[in-house]
Amino acid sequence: MNIAIPLPRIENTIASNHSIERTQLLSGLLSPQAKIDPKYFYDDLGCELFTQICKLDEYYPTRTEAAIFDKYRDDIGAALPEVSQWIDLGCGDCAKSTQWLEHMVPTRLVGVDIAGDFLQSSLTAVAARYPAIDCVGVVSDFTQAMDIRSLLSERPGAAPVFFYPGSSIGNFDRPHALRFLQSIRRHCPAEGRLLIGVDLVKNRDILEAAYDDAQGVTAAFNLHVLEVVNRELNSDFNTELFRHRALFDEAHQRIEMQLVAECDQTVDFAGDISRQFNAGEHVLTEYSHKYTIDGFGQMLKEAGFARYQVWTDSNQWFGVFLAEPG
Ligand code: AVI
Repeated sequence: MNIAIPLPRIENTIASNHSIERTQLLSGLLSPQAKIDPKYFYDDLGCELFTQICKLDEYYPTRTEAAIFDKYRDDIGAALPEVSQWIDLGCGDCAKSTQWLEHMVPTRLVGVDIAGDFLQSSLTAVAARYPAIDCVGVVSDFTQAMDIRSLLSERPGAAPVFFYPGSSIGNFDRPHALRFLQSIRRHCPAEGRLLIGVDLVKNRDILEAAYDDAQGVTAAFNLHVLEVVNRELNSDFNTELFRHRALFDEAHQRIEMQLVAECDQTVDFAGDISRQFNAGEHVLTEYSHKYTIDGFGQMLKEAGFARYQVWTDSNQWFGVFLAEPG
C-alpha cells in the first residue's frame, strides 16, 4: 500500500520585479567599474558548472567542510538544541542539511532558496524520505531581506538552527555580511543557533588555483555569466573576447573574479545603449572574502552572538562556526 506524503508547503516572499533587476544589472555594467551581481551565475548551466567546480582538486572548500562535518558531527551535534527546527539557507538540493537530519531529527526543515521550482522538488524528496519531519519551503532572496519569524513561531518549542554552509557568506562584502548575520540574530532566540561554514585566509597560490583551475571549469563558469547577461539585457557580449582572471587581494582578504577584455570593443545593449571596453579593462563578477578565525568571531560578536565554537581541518583552511546568542 502506498502512503501519500503531503506536498511540502511553499511560501513565496519574493515580489519579483524583473524590470528593476534589469535596470540594476545594466547600471552595474555601465558604471565606471563595470560589475555583474554574482547571482547571475546560477542559471541551469551555471548551477551545473558550479557543481563541477565543487568536485575539482583545486577547489578545496566543499570537501574540506564536508570532512569537518563528518569528523565532528557528534561534537557539533552535542552543542545543538535537542528539539530543533532547521533553517537551511540556500538549501539547493538539501544535500548538506540531509546529512544532519538523521543525526539530529529536527521536527521541521525550512528550506530557503531563490529558485522556487527546484525548492519544491528538493523538499518533496526530503519529505518522502523523512516523513516525520515537517518540510516547508520559503522562496526568498534571503541575501537581501528575510522575515520568517511567523513561520518559526508555529513551532514555539523547537529552537531554530540556522544552517549556512559552503562559505557563501564570503560572497557578501563585509558590511553586507554583518547585516546578514544581524538579521539571522534577530530571528534567533536564546536557545537558537547558527551553524555556518567560512573559508579561511591562506596562501595566495592555493587561493588563486581554487578560483582558476587547470581544467578551466571556473573560467567557463565565469565567462558563462556573459551569456546570462546577453539573455537578460539583449546585449551582445562576445565571450571569446574576454578572459577569466582570479586575483587574491591581500589588503581586502578576498578573491576577486574578473572578466578581462582581450581587445578594444563595444558592447551593445537593447535601447541604443552601448559601452566601450578597452583592452585590459575588466568586469568585476565576484568577491569571495576569506576570514581569520578571530576576524569572523569578531563579526559574530558584532552581530549580537555572544559566544561561538569553531571546528577546522588540520591545515586550518576552513572553519565551521557554531554561534549562540549567549
Ligand atoms: C558559492 N560561493 C561560496 C563560491 C565561492 O567560493 O565563493 C562561488 C565560486 N566562485 C568561483 N568558484 C566558486
